[in-house]
Amino acid sequence: MTLEPSLLTIAYLVAAVLFILSLRGLSSQETARSGNTMGMIGMAIAVAATLSNSSLSAYGITIAAIAVGGIIGFLLAMRVAMTAMPELVALLHSFVGLAAVLVGIAAHLSHHGGNVESIEIYVDIAIGSITLTGSIIAFLKLRGSVGGNPLLLPGRHVLNLGAVAATAVLGVLFVKAGSVSESMTYLYLMIAITGALGMHLVLAIGGADMPVVVSMLNSYSGWTASAAGFMLGNDLLIVTGALVGSSGAILSYIMCRAMNRSILSVIFGGFGAKPAAKSSTPAGEQVELEVVEISCAGAVDALLRAKSVVVVPGYGLAVARAQHAVREMTEILEHEGVKVRFAIHPVAGRLPGHMNVLLAEAKVPYSVVLEMDEINPDLPETDVVMVIGANDIVNPAAQTDESSPIYGMPVLEVWKSKVAIVMKRGRAAGYAGIDNPLFYEPHTRMLFGDALESMNEIVGGLRTKAKAKAKAA
Ligand code: TAP
Repeated sequence: MTLEPSLLTIAYLVAAVLFILSLRGLSSQETARSGNTMGMIGMAIAVAATLSNSSLSAYGITIAAIAVGGIIGFLLAMRVAMTAMPELVALLHSFVGLAAVLVGIAAHLSHHGGNVESIEIYVDIAIGSITLTGSIIAFLKLRGSVGGNPLLLPGRHVLNLGAVAATAVLGVLFVKAGSVSESMTYLYLMIAITGALGMHLVLAIGGADMPVVVSMLNSYSGWTASAAGFMLGNDLLIVTGALVGSSGAILSYIMCRAMNRSILSVIFGGFGAKPAAKSSTPAGEQVELEVVEISCAGAVDALLRAKSVVVVPGYGLAVARAQHAVREMTEILEHEGVKVRFAIHPVAGRLPGHMNVLLAEAKVPYSVVLEMDEINPDLPETDVVMVIGANDIVNPAAQTDESSPIYGMPVLEVWKSKVAIVMKRGRAAGYAGIDNPLFYEPHTRMLFGDALESMNEIVGGLRTKAKAKAKAA
């Protein structure tokens, strides 16, 4: 069956509207599921409409490619651990870049058209090539296959500018080329240069800041798709690419703001490259400082005495997979009349919304999950704050130590609460690699151990005490 052009346009329009509604739905936890569904329906309509397009003839190979890609994607998504999600996303962006380069070359070889078409093809391939190599390096850095230290070549900004200038010059030569073989030479040269530029831009960024780079590459992949849409005369691709490009850019901006970074340094590379200023309280000295420990039994008593408890989840909660045990703890405490809420920092964990996803998976009600700005004013009145596997996002140095690399980053002010119980395995630093003065605050109690094991012990203790109380009553 082939679709009339007007029907195809309507189908694309419906798909585009569904994509916009999907993004809107994904912006809040309550509507995220329906947002996802709308995105899937939109994509199904887009694929079905494209397959019904009269200009498509190679059905066999197209459907085989969709089947193979779909199965690989399904298996990868089912197997990936939440903590390895940024790696997978980086790898998937590299495919978008590769597709843009291949489609661009194919488009150029099949219909060597006018100047505008040639410019569209050239831009598409250039962004695609940067996205391809940049994403591969991001993937390797996140996996640990390439070292996390930023590569700081001498005169790297000049090198980058030189690569951009050479790309522009080759672009002019490409558009003016007299034959396909001549234009292909310029194209291959440009792919080599932009490929090296993509690698260099990401290699110059510290491994610690790679998630922001992944979000930025997500944006690039959107713009690549949009450029491909212009090249292929496909309106849906233009709209979808622009949606991905702009939402990725907004997300990167939000992440940068939450981490007190500059978005420009991410775009131009060298992000996280500046060596951290020496802290006024070096880690070596702080290790000598005393911490006050608490046992799981002590934590149980403190929790049962409290009227209000705030749980601050961090990356360690994801590593330990302790979210279900935390929900059990919440239920018991609420049953005992304790008000329990969750405080979510915008960059807690390793990807945007990481903690929200974990808590939603454990069926923690959305109504008790609050953003940092909503909960911070309540922390001084909070009896117990449970910091579970979080570190940088509760570091007071962000407000007090101007020499700290995270100085200026908004943080959850848990040190203002009456008691802060910090659950972690040892004294290791967090993501930013710096010590945390919170551990030495007079109201802080350190509960050392794996978050899941400690949480299970706390839940067991709470259950026993709650049962004993019920029996006595
Ligand atoms: P981190 O600062 O990375 O601290 C996590 C802590 O969890 C570690 O200090 C670790 O200490 C502890 N931990 C690890 N495994 C554990 C386990 N099994 N049980 C108990 N504790 C465990 O995490 P955070 O506070 O969530 O902060 C996030 C960081 O990532 C920020 O620096 C942020 O800027 C950065 N970042 C986030 C994002 C997004 S979008 N979320 C993007 C880029 C960067 P021990 O080893 O001593 O246990």
